[in-house]
Amino acid sequence: MSKTVIRASTLDDLDAVESLENRAFPGDRLSRRSLRRYIVAPNALMLSALSDGAFAGYALVGLRARSLVASLYSIAVDPDMSGRGLGKALMLAVERGAAARGRTSLTLEVRADNSGAVALYERLGYARFDVLADYYEDGQSALRMKKALKAPA
Ligand SMILES: CC(C)(COP(=O)(O)OP(=O)(O)OC[C@H]1O[C@@H](n2cnc3c(N)ncnc32)[C@H](O)[C@@H]1OP(=O)(O)O)[C@@H](O)C(=O)NCCC(=O)NCCS
Repeated sequence: MSKTVIRASTLDDLDAVESLENRAFPGDRLSRRSLRRYIVAPNALMLSALSDGAFAGYALVGLRARSLVASLYSIAVDPDMSGRGLGKALMLAVERGAAARGRTSLTLEVRADNSGAVALYERLGYARFDVLADYYEDGQSALRMKKALKAPA
């Protein structure tokens, strides 16, 4: 049984995050420069998943000032480690982090043809509320989904 740890991303994760970003997404990738900025930005929360001590995935949410709504900017799990609950663990961790910073809901956009990610979000209780036509570089549309976050106990 492998051991999963979720922790705040650091600049030491940058190479691994960039390499995963390039493997996980065929287009619409975050640049190294953006990833570096988000790791240190006070208005973003970026978490890394480690499996048996090795980097295995990350999730990034935007926490804009004066907004109660957090936005999922990206999530990716190493394809060699998919289907082991790491995506779910990352999502639950960013939800807790956003709620701890006073956010009351989390919204996201996902490619309408990304059935795996849509399944993950639906399983976690996200509901579709809009469709954005021609949203991605290749013209694919986005589903907008959202979930209310529980206030921390
Ligand atoms: C989407 C992604 C993050 C899922 O990560 P993961 O670690 O494989 O997902 P998990 O193992 O935590 O799956 C959790 C739940 O999501 C659902 N799910 C995840 N991937 C799925 C798939 N490919 N097909 C069907 N259901 C899937 C399942 O219901 C699963 O729960 P269950 O096994 O308990 O029923 C991962 O596949 C990935 O990085 N994809 C490429 C990047 C990407 O598309 N990111 C999303 C951008 S919006």
